[in-house]
Amino acid sequence: MIGLESPDDAAVWRLSDEQAIVVTTDFFTPVVDTPYEYGSIAAANSLSDVYAMGGRPFLALNIAALPDNLPPEISSEILRGGAEKAREAGVVIAGGHTVKDKEPKYGLVAIGFVHPQKIISKSGLKAGDVLVLTKRLGTGVTTTAIKQEKAEEAHIKEVIEWMSRLNKAAGELAVEFGVRGGTDITGFGFLGHAAEMAEASGVALHFEFSKIPFLSGARGYAERGIFPGGAFDNKGHFEKVVNFPVNFSEPSQMLLFDPQTSGGLLFGMAQEKLSAFEARAKELNQPYWIVGEVREGKGIEVR
Ligand code: CO
Ligand code: CO
Repeated sequence: MIGLESPDDAAVWRLSDEQAIVVTTDFFTPVVDTPYEYGSIAAANSLSDVYAMGGRPFLALNIAALPDNLPPEISSEILRGGAEKAREAGVVIAGGHTVKDKEPKYGLVAIGFVHPQKIISKSGLKAGDVLVLTKRLGTGVTTTAIKQEKAEEAHIKEVIEWMSRLNKAAGELAVEFGVRGGTDITGFGFLGHAAEMAEASGVALHFEFSKIPFLSGARGYAERGIFPGGAFDNKGHFEKVVNFPVNFSEPSQMLLFDPQTSGGLLFGMAQEKLSAFEARAKELNQPYWIVGEVREGKGIEVR
């Protein structure tokens, strides 16, 4: 149903009229200095692509590449972080494979189920939808500050908390409210993934900058230019489809192109379902921000 022709967050294969299988993989080098948290972030990030498709993950395999001289207590902490995050998601890690490599890499192959009529894809946005975001932005600048040893302790704690958070409740809410257009915010940054959805859905996305949530340290690190290389690549690649207000500052632009690790979901919600959605989200303790709306047309407008 979804594969290489219309690349999305995961591949989807129909098994029957009631059931399709969702398959995805993701792994990366450490984004934080503590092995347990690294494992848990990598697992949350891998499972996120299943939630972003409206799916429910149930089975996973570890993929790890670890240096020969890495103390065994560190590698086991990475795997323990991943295993406990998977357990929190109700997912069984049933095996995996490890190879030797100079720089550690860890992640999961994740498999889930989705109802073939309830798939959430990048092409499902409709004019009139409001745009909902479920995590704060700024993980790229903040983890880059960690790498450069410029990050404040409170900011490190905050970014780890957000990156470790599962998109489970957010994905289940989206399915419950009949969402059809959505994705998770990862390497292409907020506007890169928004641009992909605008194009795939044949619509224009309008955002209000003042409504977009950021981590506490993000603005400060952005003003000091502490961006990962990917932020500049994303800007170069996607800025041609984005209209910014006159005099919109460079750090603000860059924050919207900042690559995210284990970011939130961004999806379109029918206007008339919004108040019921908001009540349910509060009940489930699921944070959300209404950041803009879908209109007819193309490209992206930031106000
Ligand atoms: Co994704
Ligand atoms: Co991915």
